Amino acid sequence: MAKRWYYFFILALVFFHNSCVVNDENRKKVNDSSTTYRFLEKDVHSFSNPNQNRVEHLHLNLEINFDEKILSGSVLISIARLGNSNHLHLDSKDLVIHKVLLDDGDTANYSISPKDSILGQDLTIDLKSNTKSVEIFYETSPESEALQWLNPKQTYGKVYPFLFSQSQAILARSWVPCQDSPGIKFTYSADIGNSLGLLVLMSAQNPVERNESGRFHFEMDQPISTYLLAIACGNIKYQALDSLCGVYAESEMLEASSWELASLPQMIKSAESLYGKYVWKKYDVLILPPSFPFGGMENPRLTFATPTIIAGDRSLVSLIAHELAHSWSGNLVTNETWNDFWLNEGFTVYFEQRIMESIYGKRYVDMLNVLGMDELKHTISDLLKEDKSEDTHLFLNLKGRNPDDGLTDVAYEKGRYFLQTIEQIVGRKHFDSFLKKYFTENSFQPMNTKRFIQYLKKNLLNKYKGSEKKLMLERWVYGPGIPSNCTKPYSEEFNRVDSLSALFSVSGDINVVDTAGWTTHHWLRFLRSLKESISKEQVVSLEHTFHLSYSGNSEILCDWFQLCIITDFQPAFQPLETFLITVGRRKFLSPIYKLLSQTTDHRKWGRKVFVKAKPGYHSITSATISEILMVN
Ligand code: BES
Ligand code: ZN
Repeated sequence: MAKRWYYFFILALVFFHNSCVVNDENRKKVNDSSTTYRFLEKDVHSFSNPNQNRVEHLHLNLEINFDEKILSGSVLISIARLGNSNHLHLDSKDLVIHKVLLDDGDTANYSISPKDSILGQDLTIDLKSNTKSVEIFYETSPESEALQWLNPKQTYGKVYPFLFSQSQAILARSWVPCQDSPGIKFTYSADIGNSLGLLVLMSAQNPVERNESGRFHFEMDQPISTYLLAIACGNIKYQALDSLCGVYAESEMLEASSWELASLPQMIKSAESLYGKYVWKKYDVLILPPSFPFGGMENPRLTFATPTIIAGDRSLVSLIAHELAHSWSGNLVTNETWNDFWLNEGFTVYFEQRIMESIYGKRYVDMLNVLGMDELKHTISDLLKEDKSEDTHLFLNLKGRNPDDGLTDVAYEKGRYFLQTIEQIVGRKHFDSFLKKYFTENSFQPMNTKRFIQYLKKNLLNKYKGSEKKLMLERWVYGPGIPSNCTKPYSEEFNRVDSLSALFSVSGDINVVDTAGWTTHHWLRFLRSLKESISKEQVVSLEHTFHLSYSGNSEILCDWFQLCIITDFQPAFQPLETFLITVGRRKFLSPIYKLLSQTTDHRKWGRKVFVKAKPGYHSITSATISEILMVN
């Protein structure tokens, strides 16, 4: 009899346990230590099983080996046991696993699946029922997709090598075995050494100067997702801007960088007054060598940025406003899977514009708005031509694809215009208090598109009669293109530029091009408006007057070189080659190589340059350009 009761008791316990994880109506689970874990929908880009066993904390113990281009050591993973599975599934890619130890000191059995070219390998570790942590001894491969190992020549200082990581979207798994899905948040700590005694930095509490030993300890006590794991190592120095923020860069770039980013303290204040306190304790920016494949990456406490924003006139700092804004949209409230990417980027572009407006005024932001809309229209028309209408939805379906291929301007610009349209319908005041509440209530939580829509209805649209219908919500999120109610951007400044460029187009007279008072964005507007009908003579006279091929501003160079390719203006091809070899930022390289690939001679030239440039590109950039030029 007693035995029967005992079985009944166990059965009930198991049932209760499982139902907590999966069936709870608001999809939350409270485990023994009363931490709240949200039930996570399946992420098609991860092998992990977070509803069963979830990573809570990582401790990395790694040595940076510049000679072999590897990181080696171990990661100690603490696990919350949420279900009854005794398997811990981790993502890994090109890692060499030496052994795995359980917390009781026993070696663990593990298996590694064959490699999927996008997802990598499923590293499955057998746990005991009471296992709370495992330690994996491993090393990365020199081909690790997240890591770029620069030789001294590729740095500004030319004396020391440099290492940096780029984990977003799914590359963290190529330097740390982990549950590489953005909905999973964990804290981390690390001990990292390097034999050259260089400074090491992470997305954590950071040292400000190097030490004799070359070993540094890191703590990140606020939960983050794996795509925000970051590391950099090089001959880096620090300059504080105030007690909260500052700039890291190679010494050669430090002064120019901190001058360029002088408005950072003001930006942080502006962001805080919009949507609530900055909670990450520090906000520093690391200016990387020019091969960094992106403009910026919002690694918590330490944004990584391309040196191409150091233009000498502070005209490109909106990129930092963008990465700073991610401290709320993305780093606090995080897209649950890459299909929800617009929740990170659309919100961030909107937020970025608000910061810029508060500091530089509406006239300035109007220009950014118009440029953004033009880019969006181009992206959408390209996607439609390629029969990729679904990629113009805000909510994406990236199953079976590399998220890197599906993450386009649509999430950024259509996302931003969606939020602007809501703002227009309910009014800025109401929208601002909604956003502030949204960031506060969902801090340190993943968010998906479905839940966001529910939240939006409940906390905003339901309060303002008729607003939901006016908004055409479903059409924006699950439909193609730009809905008809989208706000229309307009820029006074660009009107001036447009009439001037129309005059120049027709007359070819360079004297009408009065550029007094122009900033980078006026130039971009001007160059883009010429793209359809420019003649070689016009390119010649522009070059003669403004020497654009030798501009120090990469944004301008990128658009200018496109005009030179279109008109086959040969004198620009040498500086273009230099640009393609020194700059690794994909946003600049892709349109140029795309244009080059359109005619046989240019394609041949482009392929030749790519052979020279490729060793200096990050794997992310190489992969994209190889595809554009159809080479391996
Ligand atoms: N988080 C992104 C960069 C990213 C996105 C890396 C997806 C990998 C996959 C970052 O915040 C970003 O959007 N950077 C932009 C600059 C921004 C001003 C639009 C970039 O790098 O161009
Ligand atoms: Zn972004």
